[in-house]
Amino acid sequence: MRNILVTGGAGFIGSNLALELQSRYPEARIVVVDDFRSGDFKNLQGFRGDVVGADVSRLDWHGQFGERVFDVIFHEASITDTTVHDQLLQVHDNVEGFRRLLTFAGASQTPVVYASSAATYGMCTGVQEEDQPALPANVYAFTKVQLDNLAREHALRTPSWRIVGLRYFNVYGSREPHKKAAASMIYQLYLQMKAGRRPRVFRSGEHKRDFVYVKDVVALTIRAATAPRSGVFNCGSGVAISFNELIGFLNESLGTSLEPDYIENPYSHFYQTHTEANMTRARVELDFAPSWPPSRGIADYVATLESVR
Ligand SMILES: NC(=O)c1ccc[n+]([C@@H]2O[C@H](COP(=O)([O-])OP(=O)(O)OC[C@H]3O[C@@H](n4cnc5c(N)ncnc54)[C@H](O)[C@@H]3O)[C@@H](O)[C@H]2O)c1
Repeated sequence: MRNILVTGGAGFIGSNLALELQSRYPEARIVVVDDFRSGDFKNLQGFRGDVVGADVSRLDWHGQFGERVFDVIFHEASITDTTVHDQLLQVHDNVEGFRRLLTFAGASQTPVVYASSAATYGMCTGVQEEDQPALPANVYAFTKVQLDNLAREHALRTPSWRIVGLRYFNVYGSREPHKKAAASMIYQLYLQMKAGRRPRVFRSGEHKRDFVYVKDVVALTIRAATAPRSGVFNCGSGVAISFNELIGFLNESLGTSLEPDYIENPYSHFYQTHTEANMTRARVELDFAPSWPPSRGIADYVATLESVR
C-alpha cells in the first residue's frame, strides 16, 4: 500500500487508522479527506500526510485528485451523531458522499473499505449475524443500510472490484473525546468515575453491549483491504458484557469501588437489550480474530487515559 486515502481521518476511528497506516507503511502517501464537522485536528498530531478539507458529498473527486489512483480507499466519513434527526441532511451527506466516492473509485476499481454499523441490525437481541435482515431504528442507521445496498449493487455489477463493509459495534479507545456525548459509554463512565461520582447507567445495568477496542477495529479495517471478496463483515469483540460488568472492569482499572447509580431509561421502548457480533465470517474469510477482549481492552484504554492526565 503506497497510495492511501482515508475519509473521515480527523475523526476517532479515521485518525487511529491513518496513524496506524503511517506507522505500518512509512513510505506510503496518505491523504485524509475530512470536513471537520465532528473531527478535530488534534487527533492528527504526528500525521505527516496530506489533509484535504472537504465534504465528501460535495467534493468534485476527479477535480481534486485528477487521474491519481489509490491502492485503497478507507471510507470513515459520516455524520456519526445518531441524534441528528434531519433526514435529508443525514441521507444526503452520508449516502451521496459514498455514491460519489464509489463513482471515483470505480473508474480504477480501487478497493474500498467502508464503515457500516451494527446499528443496521436495529432492535434485535442476541448474537447478530451479517445475513439477518436490516432493521434500522433511526435515520443514521438507515443511511448505513443504504451504504450496504449501494456496495452490494456495485459489487454485483463489477465482480472483480472489492468493496468491503465493516459493521462496527460499540467502538472505544484513544482519540474519542471530541465526540463529547457521542463518545463511547466506556469513556463517559470513566469520566464520571474519575470525578469521584457513581457511574450513571440505565436500570438495572444488565443491558449487554459488544464493546470493541479501536486497536482491533483498525487491525480488521486494514485486513479488509485485502479481502478475497466483496461483502459485509461484523467488527466487534465477539463478547457481550453488561453495563454492570463494565463498571466492574473500570473499578478494577481505576482502583475504585463505585456502585452504579441506576436511572430510568426514557428510551426503553427502542433500547437494545443485547448486542453481540458473530465474528465467524471475519475469522473464516479474513483470518481475523479480535485480540482485545473487553477486560484487557478496557484496562489498556484506562492506562492510556491515565498516562496523559
Ligand atoms: N464509533 C463507533 O462506535 C462506530 C460504530 C459504528 C459505526 N461507526 C462508523 O465509523 C465511522 C467513524 O466514526 P467515528 O466514531 O470515528 O466518528 P467521528 O465523528 O469521530 O468521525 C467521523 C469523521 O467524519 C467527518 N465527516 C463527517 N461527515 C463528513 C463529510 N460529509 N465529508 C467529510 N468528512 C465528514 C467528521 O468531521 C469526522 O472527522 C463512521 O462512518 C461511523 O458511522 C462508528
